[in-house]
Amino acid sequence: MGKILITGGAGFIGSNYAERLLSNGHQVTLFDNLSRKGSVQNLEWLQGKYSSGIKFVQGDVRHFEDVKEAVYKQDVVFHFAAQVAVTSSVVNPREDFEINALGTLNVLEAARLSSNNPLIVYASTNKVYGAMDDVSLVETATRWQYKELPLGISEQNHLDFHSPYGCSKGAGDQYVRDYSRIYSIPTVVFRQSCIYGVRQYGIEDQGWLAHFIISILKDSKIKIYGDGKQVRDILWIDDLLDAYDIVLESPNNFAGQVFNIGGGVDFTVSIWNEIEPIIKDLAGKDLSIQYDDWRPGDQKVYISDITAFSRSGWSPKVDPVTGTKLLWEWISDHIHLL
Ligand SMILES: NC(=O)c1ccc[n+]([C@@H]2O[C@H](COP(=O)([O-])OP(=O)(O)OC[C@H]3O[C@@H](n4cnc5c(N)ncnc54)[C@H](O)[C@@H]3O)[C@@H](O)[C@H]2O)c1
Repeated sequence: MGKILITGGAGFIGSNYAERLLSNGHQVTLFDNLSRKGSVQNLEWLQGKYSSGIKFVQGDVRHFEDVKEAVYKQDVVFHFAAQVAVTSSVVNPREDFEINALGTLNVLEAARLSSNNPLIVYASTNKVYGAMDDVSLVETATRWQYKELPLGISEQNHLDFHSPYGCSKGAGDQYVRDYSRIYSIPTVVFRQSCIYGVRQYGIEDQGWLAHFIISILKDSKIKIYGDGKQVRDILWIDDLLDAYDIVLESPNNFAGQVFNIGGGVDFTVSIWNEIEPIIKDLAGKDLSIQYDDWRPGDQKVYISDITAFSRSGWSPKVDPVTGTKLLWEWISDHIHLL
C-alpha cells in the first residue's frame, strides 16, 4: 500500500499499528511530538526492533508546515495524534482544540495539497454521542444497561459533542468526513470505544483499565468516579488493528464512511463492579478503592453497535477476561517503565 504515515505513531495505538505494519514489510513514518508519557519508550522499542522501513519525525500537528512536509508523498495517513484526556480538555480547552481540531484540519489540508490523494483514517471517539441522557437505562446489581438498545449505539445516533474533548474530536470527525464529500479525499472515520492493550501507559484520565492495573501493581489507590457501574464495551488492541488492516486492504469499500468500533455487546464490562473480580483474581489480594463524583461527559453506558463494520467480515476476538489477563501480564513485565 505504499508509504504510510502515522501521526501519534509513538502512542499506544500508533506504536502497536506501526509494529504490525513494519512486520508486514510496509514503509512507515511516525510523526509525534512525544508529549505522551511512554511515547519515548514506545519509539525506542520500535526503533530497536526495526532498523529499516521506519522513519521518525518529531513534529507537532498544530504546526502546519511540519504536517505538510510529513504528509507530502504519503499514500496513507492514520491520524492518531491527539490530546486524549477529557479532564485535561476541561482544564485547557484551547490547547485541546488546537491539537485535536486544528491538528486534524492541518492533516486534511496537507492531504488536499499533497496531490497524492492519500487515504486518511481518523481515530474518533464514542464521546461524539455525548452523555445520551435521552436513552433509557436500567440498573442491575453490577451495571447500568440500555433498556431498549440490544445492539448498542449505532452510527445513526445523533451527535451531541460533550466536553471540550468531545467537541474537538467531534469537529475532527466531521471535518474528516466532509473532506471526502467536498474534496473526494478517501477518508474513513472510526468512532472508537475503549481500546486496551500492550504498550498502553494508562493514566487516571485515559486508559482506565491499564491505569487500574498499574495502580494495583504500584500499591497506589484507585479512585472510581461515579458508582463503578458504568458500562463500556472494550476492544483489545489487536482486534482494532484487524479493522485498520481491512480498510488498508480495500479502501474503496470504506471511503467516505463512519464506523463505530468497539467490543460491541459481547465484550462489555462495568468499570469497577465487574472488572474488580477479574483483576482481584490476577492480583491475588483484596483491592481498595475510593469513590468520587461523576466526571463531566461520563456516559453511564456506552456500547458500540458494530453491525456496520462487521459486514466487512470483522469481529472482535479477544474477550474481556482474556484481554485483561494479557494486559496484566504486559504491565507486570514492564512496571519499571510505568
Ligand atoms: N485509546 C482509546 O481507548 C481511544 C478511544 C477512542 C479514541 N481514541 C483516539 O485514538 C487516538 C490514539 O489514542 P491512544 O490511546 O493511542 O493515545 P496516546 O496518547 O497513547 O497517543 C497519542 C500520541 O499523540 C502524540 N501527540 C499528542 N499531541 C501531539 C501533537 N500536538 N503533535 C504530535 N503528536 C502529538 C502523543 O505523544 C502520543 O504519542 C487518539 O486520537 C484518541 O483520541 C483512543
